[in-house]
Amino acid sequence: MRIELELKALEEIKADTLIVPIFKEDSLEEGLLQKINEYSGGGLSLLLETEELKTKKKEINYLYATKESPTPRLILVGAGEASKTTPHLFGQLAATAVRFMVSKKLTSGVMLVRNLNNLDLALTARHITECSLLAPHEQNKYQKKEENDVQIEQLSISFHNSPVENSLIKEAISRGRAVAEAANFARDLTLEPGNKLTPKEFARRATEMGIALGLEAQAIDEEELKKMGMGALLAVSQGSEEPAQLIVLRYRGTKSNDSQPIALVGKGITFDSGGISIKPREGMWEMKNDMAGGATVIATLCAIANLKPEIDVIGVVAASENLPSGKAYKPGDVIKTYSGKNIEIIDTDAEGRVVLADALHYAVEQKPSCIIDLATLTGACIIALGNHRAAMIGTDENLMKEIRQASEQAGEKLWPLPLNKDYQDMIKSDIADIKNLGGRYAGAITAAAFLRAFVGDTPWTHLDIAGTAWLEENQPEMAKGPTGYGVRTLVEFILCRAKK
Ligand code: BES
Ligand code: ZN
Ligand code: ZN
Repeated sequence: MRIELELKALEEIKADTLIVPIFKEDSLEEGLLQKINEYSGGGLSLLLETEELKTKKKEINYLYATKESPTPRLILVGAGEASKTTPHLFGQLAATAVRFMVSKKLTSGVMLVRNLNNLDLALTARHITECSLLAPHEQNKYQKKEENDVQIEQLSISFHNSPVENSLIKEAISRGRAVAEAANFARDLTLEPGNKLTPKEFARRATEMGIALGLEAQAIDEEELKKMGMGALLAVSQGSEEPAQLIVLRYRGTKSNDSQPIALVGKGITFDSGGISIKPREGMWEMKNDMAGGATVIATLCAIANLKPEIDVIGVVAASENLPSGKAYKPGDVIKTYSGKNIEIIDTDAEGRVVLADALHYAVEQKPSCIIDLATLTGACIIALGNHRAAMIGTDENLMKEIRQASEQAGEKLWPLPLNKDYQDMIKSDIADIKNLGGRYAGAITAAAFLRAFVGDTPWTHLDIAGTAWLEENQPEMAKGPTGYGVRTLVEFILCRAKK
């Protein structure tokens, strides 16, 4: 889909449809709406009179237009209160319209943005671009294609009555595209079932994409992991026939050899059966998505390779399968990690933190300025925050503030949870340095407390994306399935850091 800034006057626009966000306060007193009313042959005034005009966010009014109209159709998409619009809302409205266009097989549209709330237009264009490219992304690779499937060819953005700086908008659109395409790559990886995306295949696809984009890419195999002493990652994978992989991608944006990279670390469990502490059978299939954090890390590096900021970034993903077998690791086992600390395994289903222990220590060795890890780590996170927000837990208030700001700017929601010694005490082991389970309470926090033991003094933040990595149901602005959560926030964070 091409996305472009439209500079033509309304009358000269050519497309299948106009897309016009409609606010609660809208009336025909406004010149533009008078025109839309004319184009709709009085349809808009009728909807207003009968109070049938839908103005709630993401509601759609679909009208056919008269001959006078530059486009044969009008999509009036509800936008709520004008004073509450944000760049991200415009993105969601564009995405809603795009999904509607797909359902109607329309292939081109022009979105008319009325900036009634003094928004940053470049940021608005970026959100429209990102959301519009995420919206039609099909998650149906393993289904027979419909024969008359159409793809949207063009979406243009027209800022009504607002002077814009062309170059800024163009830059925003191309950044939005890089981020959305990366997030869609993360979604494609996450959608893959466990039999297709094994740790090896995950590593192959990540390194192939990384190398194509000019990143340094490496997949460390079990033989090497053994030599290095990555006992935790190897313990989780030992029940599976599929060998573990530590995937490492590096982006060097500074010319200097001693600059500290930002380290991103991801959980890459390509299937989580729970192992010997096996999960109940209901919903177990969803655990093919347990590598979403790893996919986000890989995809973020891909976006960064395209955007080329002057900063160094390293991505580390611990990829493994968690299965029961005669060789599997067991509750009660004591495992020596790469850091040298011993873990007592209480529950083999708390495997994410175990593989992350080694990946985090590997990241610490790279002497990073900070570490951010992403993981579908706990069901407890979903109990706490539902599917609406990721949980953020960390050791460094400033870093967490930066990440929170980045997430707000990016339109991805998260919420902080506390971490202090009380929680650290909950994972003390009787026989080893630490145990991998903290009991029934505060599960999302004790999981993070465990991770903390492996980051040393490096400023660190953990994002538990168990609730946000995939959508259970279709939304007006996105198809159900993997969301690519985190790519937008991480790119925003990295680009902000690069500017500092
Ligand atoms: N991958 C799961 C967490 C998860 C659950 C992600 C549901 C997404 C949806 C993780 O490995 C796990 O099994 N966690 C256990 C931890 C428990 C054994 C302490 C959980 O949350 O039940
Ligand atoms: Zn598990
Ligand atoms: Zn898991």
